Amino acid sequence: MSSRVSRRRFIAGLAAALGGAGTRPALELSAAPQRADAEKPANNYDTLAKLASNENPYGPSEAVKKAMSDAAKYANRYMYPDGGIAEAIADFHGVGSENVILGAGSGEILKVADDTFLRERRKLVGPSPTYESVYLYATNSNAEAFEIPLVKARGYAVDIRTMITVTLQNYRDVGLVYICNPNNPTGKIIPKNDIRLLVDSIPDEIPIVIDEAYHHYVDNPQYEESIHYVKEGRNVIVTRTFSKMAALAGMRLGYGIAPKALIDEMLPFALYSLNAPVKYGGVAALKDKAYESRVRQLNKRIRDNTTKELVTMGWEVIPSDASFFMVNVGRDVGSLVEDFHQKGILVGRKFSPMDEWLRVSVGTEVEMNRFIRVFKELLGARKT
Ligand SMILES: Cc1ncc(COP(=O)(O)O)c(C=O)c1O
Repeated sequence: MSSRVSRRRFIAGLAAALGGAGTRPALELSAAPQRADAEKPANNYDTLAKLASNENPYGPSEAVKKAMSDAAKYANRYMYPDGGIAEAIADFHGVGSENVILGAGSGEILKVADDTFLRERRKLVGPSPTYESVYLYATNSNAEAFEIPLVKARGYAVDIRTMITVTLQNYRDVGLVYICNPNNPTGKIIPKNDIRLLVDSIPDEIPIVIDEAYHHYVDNPQYEESIHYVKEGRNVIVTRTFSKMAALAGMRLGYGIAPKALIDEMLPFALYSLNAPVKYGGVAALKDKAYESRVRQLNKRIRDNTTKELVTMGWEVIPSDASFFMVNVGRDVGSLVEDFHQKGILVGRKFSPMDEWLRVSVGTEVEMNRFIRVFKELLGARKT
């Protein structure tokens, strides 16, 4: 499918980080396909089972589609009327509209956070692998990252304690801490006690971004949404998106919730370049609880059936709380992704250093049956 590009990334060596000895530059890694490439549809796009980008396979709800088509009449206007989207988000979370920043996807909020908080303190701390764009945006601005490996022995958990240690040992240089909950690509949650430990341990002047792109899908007593930290006045920026549960990835709407002081710092870096229909669609999506609950249940049932089948065939799967999961295919996934594509299925790319783990988005039942059929053709049962 899309050609891979490798780009120079500056990654801090963990050993150096723990020793506080600065960063080790110039590890050359294979990174995500560049966006222009990733967005180019394959010719047969509509016929493919799209299990590569954690999109919602069901499309937006009827209420959202109606709100967007009713708003098409504002296509000739720049900013207003805007459906009251910022106020609707603020009301939804019980915060003020001064606590809300909007973006063309939550990806924009991550970029804005990098641009804002990595200007003077040039180091970002986060897990690895995780949602990679936060590192790419930092690198593009010549900032550097301490990427803290997931803990294999704990089922690829985010290593909150090492993140805290590295941040404290380098606190004069660290401008931003990032976590993703549940984490992409593993689908694993960070337990609420770990988040509390992180928030309580990081010095007040360093903002923590908590990316909750997939929070709607979680059904786990150890999980907690983090917006209450903003209400407590902690330096936390929670990012949310309408691309996943609300199925508006192509329409581009996301937001951040943070204390007013952080929002005020970020606003000059935001584009506020949102299209008129998606603002109305976003307001309708916030209200459509029935749609959300239907998709959550479907996702859970289809994900759990698919992963059970893989486990029955002998393959190792990381238990997921999200709309995707990882399966260990026992070989480098690089060429396998292309093999799946040849058979009409788009699956996730490689997430180094988890080179043998394939990330699969949860599609419709029909798509997942197709996936299992092709998986059997390509890989069969695990040889022991
Ligand atoms: C964890 C995570 N955060 C943020 C994003 C950005 O999504 P968007 O810009 O569409 O809101 C994604 C997209 O896949 C994601 O997986």
